[in-house]
Amino acid sequence: MTKARIGVIGAGWWATQFHIPSLKTYEKADLAGVADVKPEKARAAADYYDLQNTYDDHRDLLAAGVDGVVIAVQHAYHYQIARDALDAGVHVLVEKPMTLTAADAWDLVERAKSNGLHLMVGYTYQFTRHAQAAREIVRSGKIGELQLVSGIYTSWVESYLRGRPQDYAEAFGFPVTGPEPDSYSDPKRAGGGQGHLQVTHPMGMALWVTGRRAVEVFALMQSYDLAVDLVDSFSYRLDNGAIGAMASTGAMRPNQRLDQGFVYAGSGGFVRQDLAGGRLEAQYNDGTSERFTDLSEDELYPAHMPSRGLVDLILGEGENLAPGEAGARVVEFLEAGYRSSISGRPIKVDSLAGGCSP
Ligand SMILES: NC(=O)c1ccc[n+]([C@@H]2O[C@H](COP(=O)([O-])OP(=O)(O)OC[C@H]3O[C@@H](n4cnc5c(N)ncnc54)[C@H](O)[C@@H]3O)[C@@H](O)[C@H]2O)c1
Repeated sequence: MTKARIGVIGAGWWATQFHIPSLKTYEKADLAGVADVKPEKARAAADYYDLQNTYDDHRDLLAAGVDGVVIAVQHAYHYQIARDALDAGVHVLVEKPMTLTAADAWDLVERAKSNGLHLMVGYTYQFTRHAQAAREIVRSGKIGELQLVSGIYTSWVESYLRGRPQDYAEAFGFPVTGPEPDSYSDPKRAGGGQGHLQVTHPMGMALWVTGRRAVEVFALMQSYDLAVDLVDSFSYRLDNGAIGAMASTGAMRPNQRLDQGFVYAGSGGFVRQDLAGGRLEAQYNDGTSERFTDLSEDELYPAHMPSRGLVDLILGEGENLAPGEAGARVVEFLEAGYRSSISGRPIKVDSLAGGCSP
């Protein structure tokens, strides 16, 4: 096989601004078609990018014969579509958050494994050289035993969470379409707000860099007058005993400087990873340190890479930088966090087995 045949499911904002053009311009990909339950959206994407085949049912796209699919629909629909694809023997890139419940996420991991299929989650930071270097340092033990993971993630998504995506039309450009007004504001479609939409990114990073799993999570969340959470704070314990803190708000504005990053601290030193500023450094207790070349603007958020990563995996090349297991560990962290914010108590991740919706 020299090219992978890929279908795109969901012809909304993210698929039409990033996944479709990325696949269309990748010489190893053959873009087989696009499916959307709203036929006019699939047609608009097909017209804009000059694609032949459109479908209004993802099962027809799967039956048309594809090697892999990119699933970019609202959060609540990720699980069923990914499951249908894996059951049809098709490799999957599913957007973040992988699913809304731990039970669904681990089910997808199992299905992929038993069918011998690749399962990726739409995380982007993992494709940066800094993320890979941070992972190497933390996992190799160069900072000793991991003791603390401290993260901050501020972003501007409040208008999405309020159902007013048009507020960001100028900032994003939206070549074909912006998100549906209720994709991120209606809990029935989105699950939660800042947690499921944004905290999934930094926790995708932290759990992947450390290779750890959260065992216990306590969260405080504020929704103000929104139907979903806008401001979140998580305290958690990892499976090696390290503790973590993650604070996040979606209330920034497009012209404001963002704080997005981590300190990973261990018994032998620490790593400081600045996602928004593109900086990475490590200091060790023996007095040595490392400073990595800053990321350029273009390298900060390589949104075209995940779909190409799926193509590479199908062709037997490269590493799965955002594997299903890592996505599932984030889903269980978030489910425990949402449950904690409702109950006012810390939630053990083990207690989620059999999982219900947050
Ligand atoms: N990785 C990132 O940085 C990033 C950024 C933005 C969005 N996303 C993710 O991408 C996904 C899509 O977000 P969006 O902003 O493009 O949403 P959107 O509202 O623009 O589009 C969702 C589309 O899915 C379609 N859809 C719903 N059910 C379907 C089904 N069963 N079959 C086919 N199509 C179906 C809808 O009609 C809609 O057109 C979300 O999971 C979101 O979190 C990821």
